[in-house]
Amino acid sequence: MTAFDTWMREVQAEVERALETLLPASATVPHKLHEAMRYTALGGGKRVRPLLAYASGALFGGDAQALARVAAAVEMIHVYSLVHDDMPCMDDDDLRRGKPTVHVAYDEATALLVGDALQAQAFEVLAGIDTLPPSRQVTMLRLLAEAAGSAGMCGGQAIDLDSVGLALTREELERMHQLKTGAMLRVSVILGALCGKDLSVIELEALGAYSKAIGLAFQVVDDVLDATADSATLGKTAGKDAADNKPTYVSILGLDQSKELAEQLRREAHEALAPFGEQALRLRELADLIVQRKA
Ligand code: IPE
Ligand code: IPE
Ligand code: MG
Ligand code: MG
Ligand code: MG
Repeated sequence: MTAFDTWMREVQAEVERALETLLPASATVPHKLHEAMRYTALGGGKRVRPLLAYASGALFGGDAQALARVAAAVEMIHVYSLVHDDMPCMDDDDLRRGKPTVHVAYDEATALLVGDALQAQAFEVLAGIDTLPPSRQVTMLRLLAEAAGSAGMCGGQAIDLDSVGLALTREELERMHQLKTGAMLRVSVILGALCGKDLSVIELEALGAYSKAIGLAFQVVDDVLDATADSATLGKTAGKDAADNKPTYVSILGLDQSKELAEQLRREAHEALAPFGEQALRLRELADLIVQRKA
């Protein structure tokens, strides 16, 4: 196992522990809702957003308690977005992280509430950090709200649903991807860094350029995998984008050009990290993972 693999496993275990503690216990009322929140958030997923937060946290010696809470908060928002994304009114998927989706394992109303509750919980978890200057913490809350809301993930999801059957231009597609996927990846990077210190304009620009590249690359690869991998490997239904007539990088650029684009974005991500030198090793490795992943 490489040092990167070991680091990744350690962070994933740390995130699992944080989520275990920060999610409401199944034993507390309402049992079904709490059990469903734990069912969907625990024991699955690649934890890419928490990994990004820890990797950028490493740039400036981020505070451990703050990092654990940032990692849990971004993962909670992400999981909520997946639960809603899979509902019949959106992508209507029955498999997620190798298990039946929440509306299948439970029911639609529970899936709706699981998403709502996870989103609220994420902000509670972030507000519960007591090791950072309050003014920076308010900035972090605002950045997470922006990334999750209509100017970020929700906005991207709205464009995605409105674009079924449309031939988007490449610019329109990029915008949709930057919102629905890029915004949460970006905020994971920025919040991780903010666990260490306030950021200079130069640092913010460099991390912004890195995030822009990996954010787009992540969804380009997601589109490629949807078209090329199988459901067992992905842990979610493959071939869904074409079946649903979704505009994707594969449908607009084709497979080869989509893969080339992902590779180009990986290089751009590396270049953006130049100001941070060796400290950015994990962020560079995560850019590679995002582009080279098989699931
Ligand atoms: C899937 O995200 C949804 C997108 C934003 C493309 P991930 O591929 O990070 O899913 P998990 O967290 O590993 O299940
Ligand atoms: C979903 O994009 C992005 C969010 C959940 C915000 P997709 O619909 O492509 O994600 P998958 O492929 O179902 O994971
Ligand atoms: Mg979707
Ligand atoms: Mg989907
Ligand atoms: Mg997809």
